Amino acid sequence: MSSPEERREALKALFHDARGCVRCPELAQTRHTVVFGAGNANADLMFVGEAPGRNEDEQGLPFIGQAGQLLDTLLGEIGLTRGEVFVCNVLKCRPPGNRDPQPVEIERCQDYLFRQIELIEPVVICTLGNFATKLLRHDTTGIMRLHGRAEVRVVGPRAVRLFPVFHPAAALYTPSNVDVLRRDFSALPELLALGPPEQPAAVVEAPVAVAAAEPEVLPEAPLSEPPEPEARPEPETHPAQLGLF
Ligand code: URA
Repeated sequence: MSSPEERREALKALFHDARGCVRCPELAQTRHTVVFGAGNANADLMFVGEAPGRNEDEQGLPFIGQAGQLLDTLLGEIGLTRGEVFVCNVLKCRPPGNRDPQPVEIERCQDYLFRQIELIEPVVICTLGNFATKLLRHDTTGIMRLHGRAEVRVVGPRAVRLFPVFHPAAALYTPSNVDVLRRDFSALPELLALGPPEQPAAVVEAPVAVAAAEPEVLPEAPLSEPPEPEARPEPETHPAQLGLF
């Protein structure tokens, strides 16, 4: 277990790594910003959505469009604010035209999410929709069957209480889904009150590296592949993104 300040610093270092990411050539070329995630680095509750949309890509923050407004409402109804939770996505870049994330993109991006989870050590991870649920359960079972049922899952080195719910965007056009989401959200306070699940025996508390991580060395691309594009220069700071940690 690291101190709140250490977690914040480690998360900032990860953010600085991610913001120049070019692992997905198409996404690196078309995005405006890497939407790393925002909220409380010491949150007990973490939300994982699918991928940034247009508004998120422009502003660098997750869930700030209509789906985000619904998320805020649902959080408010259980007495929570964005500043108390951490919100991020499976993909940190917007897929052009809001198309579905591709399996190869999920694979290339997943390290960032797993590292975020490892650093934040949430008690509950609420997966929003199919993409996050399938990735964190390593299973293809869909959200229709799983929503509203908590289960203990080992994610990376830790056990967490995983709680799949519908994606808020799926509720925007189907009002009955809002009722389902509301009912599922109402179970979250009790789930959080249970505290962390028993941890796997192999978990040893590793100190979190506070210094910026070494830049990742990617394997060289085969000669037949086009060269990876240069990362677009990111604006120097995203105060809102960092300020919330
Ligand atoms: N939908 C998502 O999955 N994530 C966002 O950040 C916004 C909309």
